[in-house]
Amino acid sequence: MRQGLSHQNYKDKRVKLAIFASGNGSNFSAILKAIKQGRIKTGLVVLVCDKPEARVISRAKKAKAAVILVKREDFASRPDFEAAIIQRLVSYKIELICLAGFMRMLSPSFVRKYRNRIMNIHPSLLPAFKGSHAIKDALEAGVASTGVTVHFVDEEMDHGPVILQQKVRITSKDTLVSLEERVHSIEHKLYPQAIRLFSEGKIKIKGGKVETSNP
Ligand code: GRF
Repeated sequence: MRQGLSHQNYKDKRVKLAIFASGNGSNFSAILKAIKQGRIKTGLVVLVCDKPEARVISRAKKAKAAVILVKREDFASRPDFEAAIIQRLVSYKIELICLAGFMRMLSPSFVRKYRNRIMNIHPSLLPAFKGSHAIKDALEAGVASTGVTVHFVDEEMDHGPVILQQKVRITSKDTLVSLEERVHSIEHKLYPQAIRLFSEGKIKIKGGKVETSNP
């Protein structure tokens, strides 16, 4: 990893990407599809997964992406667990980390090491409906719309400079299944867009806020 460089220094270079996921991996597949179709230009893609039974692992193997499997229970402490991940990321020279359904909070020291180079996707219009049941919570709250947010990760959960947001309307006919379907289909477009902006050096952060140029 090239320490001390911000993401803006990577303009016109192929950003090496690690996707962190613990479950299904539909966002992982959507990002890989965008790369394959040339909509985003990244170098290496590595999957970091903490669950051996996760569906995302078979998706990665099928796509011939490298898989780093790190189980928390194999390490005595969270610092040891994260040190093992960082060691692998450094060996792959990873420059951008995309959390896509990774069910663990990264420690403040991990976040600081990759400041403004860790993105997360969240199924709501943050700051509304943080947490792991965001779609269900929005439906049950009876609000007229929810959405999708891609943001840089800071030390707080579901928090940090927003890169892209898109609204999703909720209708009276919506069920959890129908709303999830619409939210996920927006996620699959928005995450590749955010990665494209980053890889093209079009994201700047000023005063804790994202400014995008020529999106
Ligand atoms: C997505 O809804 C994402 O917003 C949230 O976790 C879910 C992951 O879905 N952080 P998938 O594993 O990519 O299908």
